[in-house]
Amino acid sequence: MLTANLSIPLDRESEEPIYRQLIRHIRGQVESGALPAGTRLPASRDLARQLAISRISVVNAYAELRAEGFLSAHAGRGTFVAGERPPAAPNNGQAHQQNGHANHTGAQHSLADSAPMPDRSIREMMRLARKPGVINFSTGSPPSDFFPVQHLRSAINAILERDGAKALTYEVPEGYGPLRNCVRDYVSALGIQTSPDHVLITGGTQQAIDLVVQALLSENDLLVTENPTYLGMIDIARTRRVRLHGIPMDEDGIRLDMLENFVIDNHPRLIYVMPSFQNPTGKVMPLHRRRQLLNLANDYRVTVLEDGIYHEFRFEGETVPPLKALDETGIVIHASGFTKNLLPGMRIGYVLANGSHYERLVRVKQAADISTPGLNQRAVHLLIERGVLAQQLERNNRELKHRRDVALASAARHLPPGSRWDTPQGGLYLWVELPKTGPTAAELYISAIQVGVAYAIGNVFHPNGSGSYHMRINYGSQRPDEIEEGLKRLGRAWRELACDYADMEKTPLL
Ligand SMILES: Cc1ncc(COP(=O)(O)O)c(C=O)c1O
Repeated sequence: MLTANLSIPLDRESEEPIYRQLIRHIRGQVESGALPAGTRLPASRDLARQLAISRISVVNAYAELRAEGFLSAHAGRGTFVAGERPPAAPNNGQAHQQNGHANHTGAQHSLADSAPMPDRSIREMMRLARKPGVINFSTGSPPSDFFPVQHLRSAINAILERDGAKALTYEVPEGYGPLRNCVRDYVSALGIQTSPDHVLITGGTQQAIDLVVQALLSENDLLVTENPTYLGMIDIARTRRVRLHGIPMDEDGIRLDMLENFVIDNHPRLIYVMPSFQNPTGKVMPLHRRRQLLNLANDYRVTVLEDGIYHEFRFEGETVPPLKALDETGIVIHASGFTKNLLPGMRIGYVLANGSHYERLVRVKQAADISTPGLNQRAVHLLIERGVLAQQLERNNRELKHRRDVALASAARHLPPGSRWDTPQGGLYLWVELPKTGPTAAELYISAIQVGVAYAIGNVFHPNGSGSYHMRINYGSQRPDEIEEGLKRLGRAWRELACDYADMEKTPLL
């Protein structure tokens, strides 16, 4: 069978992304009859090479044209012009209705094709997850059906009754006193001994870690993280203009041999880790590794920032104490919050630090936003006092375990053979590695959106852009029936696209 020789005049200066230009040209040639039904199109890698564009652009264009009915794919044989041509698209094909849902053409237009930073185009592409009807596994959110809305209403009413305008004025930058006491008690149950004088209330954990970076690092200083790491920290490093270096992980977390070599050679200012239910991998650093990490930090006098946000999300296995509970020298700064486990939108987090670090953090906090809203601090305080947090943790973990089990069973049923994942003992995420015989997670993305499922693409968690075959699935945010359906759709999208790769060399582009 002959393969079409496509002539596609691309305008590299145009605002229109390359993959949309491709769609426009191929669609036009199908509609004009220049590409008759049954014509085989070049394999995506060949067309990418011929046009000197990225393969992901071709893969995405083919995926969209398939969804629109212009092309069809046959396992192992390639991509063909479909037998029956769809009616000419209105509006130059820029505003299609599919399955009753409007395409987010705006978001698609903003998809930068050959952006110099691979993760920028990937993150723009991930906005498509908000398309209606998509089962969205891509967020970091806890399930909104867990939120204690009635308890919050009652707490806010009680606070306004009790404190009136006092609840609505500026708070001291350190935070509302009773909440700081409450944090001291809360972390003491996790094994951390501290005093309210070392507790700073922040606008969520995100602000807590941002303040630490601002307080401890200057422009161009070095920050070390696990690789992969929390996307929010990659953003902070970029916006605060500090250099970020990711150290690979093994089964037990950050590799200390590599970390030590790096510390000796480069003298980083801060080591950022998530020892419990690491985001995105879900891994837990065992006790011996935590102790070794502390020894290393003390030997070289490098401060460790512990992000403990998922610490209490354990539904199986033995709890391992936070690093801060093992810290005898004050080398660890501990950040966490009542966001994932209670109410993310209230934006209440905290940071625990000693001595001069604490003073500096308070100054940076004051400069950032004067104080965390007093009403929100009081509301979270009252919810904790009334036992709502304890109830939530108990109920959430029970339900999350169930969702995890559904995710594991559905993944085994629907994800392509050769996919790999570990069984998380807590947290919200399943970290999946796709088989390298098929598309990367980024290449699969548009097809996945078209069948109605979204996930977080692995590259975005890797400061060096690796992790192409990984995806993070937030099973916790979806109901069990949606988990099953979402993973089923994901398997289908992969199988449909995999045929496009069957006769290709497996070279990841990203
Ligand atoms: C590891 C980690 N740290 C911090 C945050 C930010 O959380 P918060 O909502 O408390 O600001 C997140 C949110 O996804 C996270 O995953």
